[in-house]
Amino acid sequence: MPNAKTVKDYIRTIVDFPHEGIMFRDVTTLFADPRGLRLAVDQLLHPYAGMEIDKVAGLEARGFILGGAVAHQLGKGFVPIRKKGKLPGKVISEEYQLEYGEAIVEIHDDAIAPGEKILLVDDLLATGGTAEAGIRLIERLGGEIIGCAFVIDLPELGGRKRLEALGMDVHALCD
Ligand code: PRP
Ligand code: HPA
Repeated sequence: MPNAKTVKDYIRTIVDFPHEGIMFRDVTTLFADPRGLRLAVDQLLHPYAGMEIDKVAGLEARGFILGGAVAHQLGKGFVPIRKKGKLPGKVISEEYQLEYGEAIVEIHDDAIAPGEKILLVDDLLATGGTAEAGIRLIERLGGEIIGCAFVIDLPELGGRKRLEALGMDVHALCD
């Protein structure tokens, strides 16, 4: 019997997207396959089995797809961390660096209560700038981050080290 497919086997690489020279790891093929999506959600949750988690927070945009599925699996609620100007209620904001320039992410200021235990989810960890901004937002609201779970880590970009230096537990399914 052939070996069962791993999460990595479902991820497609698109060459020269969004710029020449970039190998873009495309998770839409993982999400589109029912076995791939199930495997990813199960593996994202595996290290946290038996741990108390109050809410799942996801980073726009692919972290919404995974985070929503993870929250549903846990029977918990989902909190979106969105790019600036998208959330309708009162927000708090954090700026972070992109390759060229800055970006801002936001969270509703009542989305997390002090002391709530939060699992942060996204598809991919590169420099860690997006995740760090998300961590700052959650911590400003008094949330306690139980872990940061990603499908892909690009280790050469240093995101894992950056988040671990903040005291975060970082879990990635492949790199
Ligand atoms: C990608 C990815 C992560 C982030 C990782 O999202 O989904 O959220 O970049 O990069 P970093 O670790 O260097 O911060 P992107 O900003 O492309 O947004 P999108 O999902 O809305 O396209
Ligand atoms: N795929 C998806 N998002 C990304 C990537 C990638 O390869 N690199 C940086 N953000």
